Amino acid sequence: MSVETIRVSTEWLDLREGADAAARARDLLDELCGHVPGADVRVIHDLACGTGAMGRWLAPLLPGRQHWVLHDRDAALLDVAAARCPAPAPDGSPVDVETRCTYITRLGADDLAGASLITASALLDLLTREELDVLLDVCAAAGCPLLLTLSVVGHVELAPADPLDARVAAAFDAHQRRMTDRGRLLGPDAVAAAVEELCLAGSEVLVRRSAWRLGPADAGLAAAWFRGWIGAACEQDPELAEAAGSYARGRLAAAHAGRLAVTVGHTDLLALPGDREPT
Ligand SMILES: C[S@@+](CC[C@H](N)C(=O)[O-])C[C@H]1O[C@@H](n2cnc3c(N)ncnc32)[C@H](O)[C@@H]1O
Repeated sequence: MSVETIRVSTEWLDLREGADAAARARDLLDELCGHVPGADVRVIHDLACGTGAMGRWLAPLLPGRQHWVLHDRDAALLDVAAARCPAPAPDGSPVDVETRCTYITRLGADDLAGASLITASALLDLLTREELDVLLDVCAAAGCPLLLTLSVVGHVELAPADPLDARVAAAFDAHQRRMTDRGRLLGPDAVAAAVEELCLAGSEVLVRRSAWRLGPADAGLAAAWFRGWIGAACEQDPELAEAAGSYARGRLAAAHAGRLAVTVGHTDLLALPGDREPT
């Protein structure tokens, strides 16, 4: 068991922003646009916003005037998010942002009252089942669509393949599911848990794949991702650290040289408030 608050760096979020934008499931947008309540100003809460990449991707695709409320527990990331406001809506309507230093696991229904849309990206795997259930209940009380993107699903493919890939992947997934002082993290089980909870709450849930497909043009991201992946796997399985030395060096060199193709599975979910009573 460990007490941990792992800080996410601006550099890492910058590195992944382009690949995230390319991976997001665009075909959920038609459904989304059809269900975001029309209002003079659409109020969109982005939970665990980091530097605000979700707003920079979505605001220019969503018609109408928008006010984004960006929540994160990390004040330094919020400062960056405030300085990098999204572009205007596609019809030219203005978009503005407000930042709130928030522990999203402590949000109450009042914090999201009046929301037109709630979003979160690359967040769910970091939560425990209890935290996820409470958060989804709070979101459901807002009665608006909920867009949860880029949740890891535990699928990684490297090309060319290596016999050690599967062992590293298994150790990484176990690390994602590790026990913490808050309970066991959901890791790659988060999407299934979220779908279950949202369906029980009576929402209509649309699920799409949103994998990263990193090639030679993404060498910097592939190398940084690989370093994090192998590091977490070796922390979880110390015997692997002994076995994987030359594997890791070779993979890292290939990634830096743009010779390692990396697919990382993610899923996007759109939950639309249903007409039926929760079960
Ligand atoms: C992987 S980053 C994703 C950031 C952003 N959503 C994106 O996609 O670029 C996870 C973010 O969640 C934030 N975070 C994690 N747990 C949190 C919590 N309990 N309350 C608020 N923010 C949290 C971190 O500070 C970090 O900014």
